[in-house]
Order: sequence, then structure tokens, then C-alpha cells
Amino acid sequence: MSATAAGLSGWIEVRRQAVDDGLARFLPAEGDGPSAIREAMRYSVFAGGKRLRPLIALAAAEAVAARLHGDAEAAGTLALPAACALELIHTYSLVHDDLPAMDNDTMRRGRPTAHVVFGEGMAVLSGDGLLTEAFALLAKEPRSCAPLASDALNGRKLRTIAIVAAAAGMAGMVGGQVIDLKAAVRGAPALDASGLHDMHARKTGALIVASALAGAVMAGADDPLLDAMERYARQVGLAFQIVDDILDVEGASASLGKTAGKDAAAGKPTYPSLYGIEQSRHRAAACLEAALAALRAAGLEGQLPAIARWVVNRSN
Ligand code: IPE
Ligand code: IPE
Ligand code: MG
Ligand code: MG
Ligand code: MG
Repeated sequence: MSATAAGLSGWIEVRRQAVDDGLARFLPAEGDGPSAIREAMRYSVFAGGKRLRPLIALAAAEAVAARLHGDAEAAGTLALPAACALELIHTYSLVHDDLPAMDNDTMRRGRPTAHVVFGEGMAVLSGDGLLTEAFALLAKEPRSCAPLASDALNGRKLRTIAIVAAAAGMAGMVGGQVIDLKAAVRGAPALDASGLHDMHARKTGALIVASALAGAVMAGADDPLLDAMERYARQVGLAFQIVDDILDVEGASASLGKTAGKDAAAGKPTYPSLYGIEQSRHRAAACLEAALAALRAAGLEGQLPAIARWVVNRSN
């Protein structure tokens, strides 16, 4: 492993623990509602996801703090609730994505999917619960972060809520899933290159962009830094879904923790189906270069470059 990759894995280990502790703390406590829904929500959240979106949010916050000569620890405190909220929304999107009415998958994060274990109704409701808790968390936490004034903190939280809502909703992830669903219907017109790019940018890119922006906003980024962060994250988000498509063709279910080979079987439009594997790899590599260039131009560093490399070179 290179020095940079070794540095990233140590950084990831500490942040993943902070995110997992945060998720355990922020999710509803026993007695807050029926234990059946609490159990179903926790089953999907604590199933061993990579935590990419929270890691991007935290890396963005730290990079902004470093660039503004701010306090990295305060940036982490400010961004952690948003990082956890994005993981809750992502997890809900997976639970619903796996439903029989959507991708009809029986394995996720190395375990039977939520609907297989708890039934379809409970899987739908646990997704609804995760989405709703995410927004409660964004509104509530952090309650304070001295010396930041409460008006300034509330302003950052409100801006973050608007960013995350737009990314999760019909202009973002939900809209992308709609395009995916309609494109896979037998006899549907094939997506062209720009249609495929648009679907990926929405269904996967939007939440990744929102993760970077949420971390940056919570850490106090100004508009030029937010622009750079958005340029970086758009490329990382597209690369992430291109690689997801490639892994669906080339990966093994055991290492992916989800069923491989489903996209072709379901007739999904993907980068490999439109461009072939080699061209798809080139496109992911081009996204990486563009992501790194956006960071360089803005003087943003920290773990963001290594995360982009990880996204493109990952095997699960
Ligand atoms: C899978 O996301 C769904 C996509 C958006 C492609 P991840 O690969 O990040 O899934 P987890 O969180 O690690 O399980
Ligand atoms: C899912 O895309 C995107 C989401 C919004 C969840 P996929 O359907 O390709 O994700 P996987 O391969 O099932 O994880
Ligand atoms: Mg899908
Ligand atoms: Mg799927
Ligand atoms: Mg996939």
C-alpha cells in the first residue's frame, strides 16, 4: 500500500468509528416508538456499509477548515450530524432500491435485504423512518459549537437542510431512481450518453455532492470553496456509479456483499452496457483527474484526493 493509501486507511478507521458512534447515538432510542421499526432501521444501518458519504462530508469539512486556517476538530463536530444524516438517507435509498418493486435484490451489505428479513411493509416503513430521522437530525444537531454564535450555526444548518433535501428529492436521487426504473421497462427507449450521465448524476451523484457540500457548509466554506467542492464531488459521484456498474459486471457477490450481474439480467442502462468495460474505466479515470484538478485549483487538500482515488480503484 502506498504512503497515501496507508494514510487514508488510518484516517478512515477513526472517522468510521466516529460515524458509527454518532449513528448509534442519533438513531431513536428504545421506547421512542415500536421496537419492530427500530430493529429494522438498525439492521440496515449497522450492516457494514463503506460509509463513503459521511467520510466525504467529514473530509470536506476538514479540508475547508485547513484552507480557512480553522479548527479541524470543531469542523468535525459541526459536520458529524450531517455526515450521519447522509448515511441514513443513503441507507434508506438502498432499502427501497432492493425492494421487489424496484431492483428485487435479496442481498445487501453481505446480509439478506431488509424486506427478506422483515417483510416488504416493514422495509418500506424503515426506509421512511430513516429518511425522516435524517432531517430531524439535521435540524437538531449540533446544538452548539462555541465560539460559533447560535445564529450563524442555525444559518449553516438551514442551508445544509436545503442542500440535502434537494439532493435526496425528485431533482436528485428520487428522480434518478425514477429514470432508472422507467429505462429498465421492456420496450423502453434506450438512454443515450447524456441520458445515462443524467441518471447517474441524479441517482448517485446528487447525494455524494450533497455530502461534500454539507460538510463544507457546516465548516463555514465561502462560495468559491463551495463551487470547487461541488466540481470535485460531481466527478467523484459519477465515477462512483461508473465503478459500481463495472463491479456489477466484474465483481463477485461475496466481496461486493450484493448480487453481482444483476444489471445486465434486468436490462439496466449502465456505463458498461453503453460504452464497454474499457471505455467505462477510461471515463472513471477521467473523472478522477477532473476531481483532482478542481481541488488543486481551489487549494483544497487533506483526504479528498485520496478518497477520489479510492472511489475509482475500489473493488467493493
Ligand atoms: C451502493 O452504494 C449504491 C450506489 C449508490 C451505487 P455503496 O457502494 O456506497 O454502498 P454501501 O453503503 O457501501 O453499502
Ligand atoms: C442505486 O443504484 C442507486 C441508489 C439510489 C440506491 P444501483 O441499483 O446500481 O445500486 P446497487 O448496485 O443495487 O447497490
Ligand atoms: Mg437500482
Ligand atoms: Mg440496485
Ligand atoms: Mg449497481
